[in-house]
Amino acid sequence: MTGAASITQEERDKKIREYLVYMENVTVRFGKVVALRDVNFSVKKNEVVGLLGDNGAGKSTLIKALNGYHQVDGGEIYFNGERTNFQSPRDARDVGIETAYQDLALVNLMSISRNFFLGRELVMGNRFFKFLDKRKMDEVAAHSLAEVGLRNIREMHETVNFLSGGERQAIAIGRASYFGAKLLILDEPTAALSVAETEWVLRLVSEAKEKGLSVIIITHNAYEAYEVSDRFVVLQHGKNYADLKREETNAKELIEVIAGRK
Ligand SMILES: Nc1ncnc2c1ncn2[C@@H]1O[C@H](COP(=O)(O)OP(=O)(O)OP(=O)(O)O)[C@@H](O)[C@H]1O
Ligand SMILES: [Mg+2]
Repeated sequence: MTGAASITQEERDKKIREYLVYMENVTVRFGKVVALRDVNFSVKKNEVVGLLGDNGAGKSTLIKALNGYHQVDGGEIYFNGERTNFQSPRDARDVGIETAYQDLALVNLMSISRNFFLGRELVMGNRFFKFLDKRKMDEVAAHSLAEVGLRNIREMHETVNFLSGGERQAIAIGRASYFGAKLLILDEPTAALSVAETEWVLRLVSEAKEKGLSVIIITHNAYEAYEVSDRFVVLQHGKNYADLKREETNAKELIEVIAGRK
């Protein structure tokens, strides 16, 4: 565990400057429940971090504190060298943090291409009349989604509620990469996916890294996390429990660590 108190001011400044994400002593409370207590968490540029821990450990709360969904009760958060003050995940998206939740990533009753653009729609027209450039949006979405392997997608104007879990994750990942996100956050992207779809999503994570993005992936599956992550941060009861580099551990050991047996 890397306690903030154990580093010098100089080291701290360097980390803030060089890391993509630097969270220090973050505390989040829900009434009497302390979901996170003095948690330290960082992500380097172009690093994939597996965020692990048992149910209720605080994983989702941590990423929601990072992306502005929750306001913190204590601690500091820096993104790309700047102290953040996100009021909502939308503010975080504007500076390059794209979050995909298993269920909330897409708006069911909107079309595939509207979901791809979500808040960044292409408009055409003039000063007086503006309307959505649907054809262009369909074209861009179809092209970008083909790149993430969604080739046999039906029509871009169809709604997304009939898509599979893997296809939904692919849209969220394709969107992040198209809009130039720096950080992709995936909260249990493979929960309830088939084996083939899980492999596809994990491949997309690796491809996102190849393109230069950083990724935070939350999963209950240590083997999946081990396959794609450079480092593992394990939370337990809302606190830091372990911070391990890929080369100093393995999936079996991670299971023991997550269970608190090691
Ligand atoms: N909106 C909320 N209101 C009240 N309590 C909450 C809220 N969100 C989370 N909690 C509580 O905070 C703690 C951490 O929850 P969190 O969802 O972050 O865990 P998690 O590690 O993501 O778990 P899981 O693996 O089950 O998704 C839990 O005790 C949970 O009940
Ligand atoms: Mg969660």
